[in-house]
Amino acid sequence: MKQQLANKQIILGVTGGIAAYKSADLARRLREAGAEVRVVMTEHAKEFITPLTMQAVSGNPVHDDLFDLQAEAAMGHIELARWADAVLVAPATADFMARLLRGEANDLLTTVCLATSVPIAIAPAMNQAMWKNTLTQENVQALQEKKIHVYGPGEGNQACGDVGPGRMLEPLELVDRMASLFATGSLSGKKVTITAGPTHEAIDPVRYMSNVSSGKMGFALAAAAVEAGATVTLISGPVLLETPAQVKRIDVVSAQDMFDAVMHNISACDIFLSVAAVADYRCKQSASQKIPKDAMPKQIELERNPDIVASVAKLNQRPVVVGFAAETENVLANAKAKLKNKNLDMIIANQVGQSDSGMGSDENAATVLWGEQQKEFPRMTKQKLARELIELVAKINSSQK
Ligand code: C5P
Repeated sequence: MKQQLANKQIILGVTGGIAAYKSADLARRLREAGAEVRVVMTEHAKEFITPLTMQAVSGNPVHDDLFDLQAEAAMGHIELARWADAVLVAPATADFMARLLRGEANDLLTTVCLATSVPIAIAPAMNQAMWKNTLTQENVQALQEKKIHVYGPGEGNQACGDVGPGRMLEPLELVDRMASLFATGSLSGKKVTITAGPTHEAIDPVRYMSNVSSGKMGFALAAAAVEAGATVTLISGPVLLETPAQVKRIDVVSAQDMFDAVMHNISACDIFLSVAAVADYRCKQSASQKIPKDAMPKQIELERNPDIVASVAKLNQRPVVVGFAAETENVLANAKAKLKNKNLDMIIANQVGQSDSGMGSDENAATVLWGEQQKEFPRMTKQKLARELIELVAKINSSQK
């Protein structure tokens, strides 16, 4: 399995060459490796393979028209370019390469390539004479100089009967190349345990106390840690999120359940990321039957839950311990105090209580504190922030060894 492709969003561009019949298998293989795939086809590609086939194997609608009102309303070309983590054009014809090099934007695929800031890779496929032509060779060299990744072509028998260079690389080879595009390997061989989401503290079988945590940040960190090569255990409170590819997930309900699950899974763990918004208190006594409305006590006696992250930090053989501080005010001062009092190696502080950032939202900004150091991360998607945070955690982890 190619961990680096887990949860990656890949645009698969298909242009008009006979190798396009392999693009269907390529889409499948990319998905098997955990990537989400959206296909963009040129008009000529549709002469070789149908959009219906590419839609079925990619699991997403195919994009093929720059000027289709409906398609643009669903996901416009700029959104598509922003959505992607990488673009792979396979097969890439001689004509497409020439157009890409000239910066043309005369169809959806070239427009997306111009509009995106993520890595672009191409897998050329054409007749061997066309490939060897100096014009094509000059174009390939110029594209490489512009940081376009060129994968292949391979050599061998060609559909036209010739033998020579010009065959599109096989789908599995292309999946490998795409994985290496993302491979930071910064946590390869490391075991990472992450808590995420809220906890529910029962009042009775149908009522509970909780908080507004969605679990999105913890799940994004789990996905980013997998991408960085780690083996990840995600201990999650009740959330409505899909498990990221290749993550071992343990579902819990209460803070005490979460504490037990963490302690059970913490040995041999290298890094512990405590992202969960653990309820500080539970009911001293939760009722075994639903309490009738009129019998509901006006005051409920509470008792403290165990502090999970502080308990992990007290272990003799402790992992690198990273906590979160979600604050509505005095963010940095509170975070600094928690870093010290809970004996953490690092704390990720963020302001909550605003609609566009923090708990529940898709975006977040953070300030990370460790030792005497501090680093700011501006507001970005939780996925992007998670990748940056994981790189920082990996650096701190290796500097402590
Ligand atoms: O003290 P506070 O709850 O603000 O600290 C937040 C940090 O402590 C987070 O990393 C959170 O996951 C962790 N925590 C915990 N167990 C608790 C309370 C908080 O692990 N009972």
